[in-house]
Amino acid sequence: HSFEPCDFVLFGTKGDLARRKLLPSLYQLEKADLIHADTRIIGVARQDISQEEYVALVKENIEKFSKEDLCSETWTRFSAKLDYACVDMKNVDSYKTFKTRVDAKRTMVCYFATPPSIFGDICRGLKSAKIIDKSMRVVLEKPIGHDLESSKVINDQVAEFFEERQIYRIDHYLGKETVLNLIALRFANSIFATNWDHNCIDHVQISVAESVGIEGRWGYFDEAGQMRDMVQNHLLQILTLIAMEPPATLDATNIRNEKLKVLKALRPIDASNVRQNTVRGQYVEGFIKGEEVPGYLDEPDANQESTTETFIALKVELDNWRWAGVPFYLRTGKRLPNKTSEVNIFFKRQPHNLFKDSFTQLPPNKLTIRLQPDEGVEVTVMNKVPSLTGTGHMDLQKSKLNLSFSETFKDERIADAYEKLLLEVMMGNQSLFVRRDEVEAAWTWVDGILAAWEQSNEAPEPYQAGTWGPVSSIALLAREDRAWFESR
Ligand code: BG6
Repeated sequence: HSFEPCDFVLFGTKGDLARRKLLPSLYQLEKADLIHADTRIIGVARQDISQEEYVALVKENIEKFSKEDLCSETWTRFSAKLDYACVDMKNVDSYKTFKTRVDAKRTMVCYFATPPSIFGDICRGLKSAKIIDKSMRVVLEKPIGHDLESSKVINDQVAEFFEERQIYRIDHYLGKETVLNLIALRFANSIFATNWDHNCIDHVQISVAESVGIEGRWGYFDEAGQMRDMVQNHLLQILTLIAMEPPATLDATNIRNEKLKVLKALRPIDASNVRQNTVRGQYVEGFIKGEEVPGYLDEPDANQESTTETFIALKVELDNWRWAGVPFYLRTGKRLPNKTSEVNIFFKRQPHNLFKDSFTQLPPNKLTIRLQPDEGVEVTVMNKVPSLTGTGHMDLQKSKLNLSFSETFKDERIADAYEKLLLEVMMGNQSLFVRRDEVEAAWTWVDGILAAWEQSNEAPEPYQAGTWGPVSSIALLAREDRAWFESR
């Protein structure tokens, strides 16, 4: 199945995502010999450039955005697969000539790396040129809308032309090795599988921190904010994998059914509880690794009046049997001290402390899943400090059992999330893609919070770039006698 040839059509091939991620990822797949010799990669954009110019552009991108030198043998194979089609994506007539560039006998995979506002135009164009058939697949890049209603409009537009089984909604976090490893950790290890509920777990922390700011995307970001850009998709997807019930099998339907149940169990946050459960922040100038950086409102193109959040901390509760009374604390922001994404599972404390000489309160066991960088899994355990002396008491120390992916899997390269996802699309496997009902359940919950914020009309709290967000984020946990994990 995987090695069937296809026409891989990249709409928006000159955009940021295609240049930074998609083209370099396709090149890596070529390098790994995972693209069929007869597959063609057809870039689509508006500019009227020649085939040679396009190939040269792609080469330049790959050299710039791959973290390694170009391999000439791979490039020769890869460049031979490249093709370019100039299409005015909003103009139906423009698709007629495009039709001559694709091969009706082969599966066509269309990646819409364009703003979602033109997904509908592309579908209509393809339809009018009679290019659409039942074997075709379409890949939709986020954001799918900015709320439930607008996501329905976009999904409806695409659904007019394609069935759900043909639609692949990307959340690139689902292509990250460490995110997928959550499934293996939970369901392949009885020590975790049997302890994974409100009886044993005190609370969960999911933290996705970035040190970058807005990076020339102010216009897009300011409309979205951290809630729509990161929480609605990436953080909620991580949460579903941590919280879901064991699926019957790993196929797309079973996994997505279980994830959906988690999203439906999210306790609504509205005007009555938004203050207790959420923190919004916006960075002001500060220092990242010793370097001075401007505040959000002083970034290029900024509107000085903006009240968009660049940081969020949330206390999330799931109203279901497994997780009753176990808070999930989510935190994500721009211009935090470093790029670290971690999941920390804090187990319940021992009921009684035999070691009061060492610790007035025994620290809890903690399972840390380092999503990025320095990918790995770590368990914090209490250990006796070796010593001859000391009858009647023991000195204890908090220690770590540490599995580092780079050491354990020395010979394996950790692929970029997009490589994995592009390969899955070419193989026709939907498990790692988000189903429409998941998107809608996520928006339903997020919309409640956004509405409550709007109603409260409070500006986000300022935090200095290079810090872990506003102090209220610390208070969110402190008032429940908990604290954010310390990242290393
Ligand atoms: C994207 C967001 O989806 O994810 C960006 O739009 C963010 O704002 C990025 O920077 C983070 O992805 P990663 O893979 O670098 O953690």
